[in-house]
Amino acid sequence: MPGDPARVEKTAKYLDQDAKFLAQNREYTSFLATLCGQKVLVCSTGIGGPGMSLALEELADIGVKNFYRIGTTGAIQPDIPVPSLIITSGSVRLDGASTHYAPIEYPAVADLELTNSLVDAARATGLEYRVGITASADTFYPGQERYDTFSGYVIRKFQNSMKEWQALKVLNYEMESATLLTIIATFGLKAACVASTIVNRTRTETPDDSILNEAESNLAKVMKKALEIRFA
Ligand code: URA
Repeated sequence: MPGDPARVEKTAKYLDQDAKFLAQNREYTSFLATLCGQKVLVCSTGIGGPGMSLALEELADIGVKNFYRIGTTGAIQPDIPVPSLIITSGSVRLDGASTHYAPIEYPAVADLELTNSLVDAARATGLEYRVGITASADTFYPGQERYDTFSGYVIRKFQNSMKEWQALKVLNYEMESATLLTIIATFGLKAACVASTIVNRTRTETPDDSILNEAESNLAKVMKKALEIRFA
């Protein structure tokens, strides 16, 4: 599950050059690929928790059991390169959608088996990666403490929040993993998340669009390898 609908076809065709278009509506584009004789549904979720939650409900309903998010992210620890991969072991729940499914004390943790497949895949492909905690926010700007905005104002709740997450060894910001990991755990299903860094926030607030293609192809590469490892 990438966030971006434009990434669905490319990812599906990387997995299987004969992948078939299924449907397109709003932020949801889906293709069906076959890899190692197994069906892989590639479906976008749009940006943020609400779109993700709707996709999860309907995909779980048609029988999907294992969910991988492949996304982009902003690193917040100074030693994390751009691009590189961050595999989420658990998320700080800065979203709203997951609170409609479980109280905030409930953890947003990734499934160990799916996460291990991503780690093995990152190792096998030789891509640089880290495994750790992600801060997953409902907003790209104030929730990730960005000041390059229309008002330039960040509410008190988020002022100095990046510094705090850094001190607590959080690796990165993104916008969907908290919703994904919480909801899928409450369903008794499996989910994991890998994201490619497109900015390091210790250096700049603005993502580097010129590395988007590389980030996307690294995600497709690690995803294909992880599935091959699981299906072997
Ligand atoms: N996605 C995010 O949510 N934040 C970033 O900084 C980059 C990608």
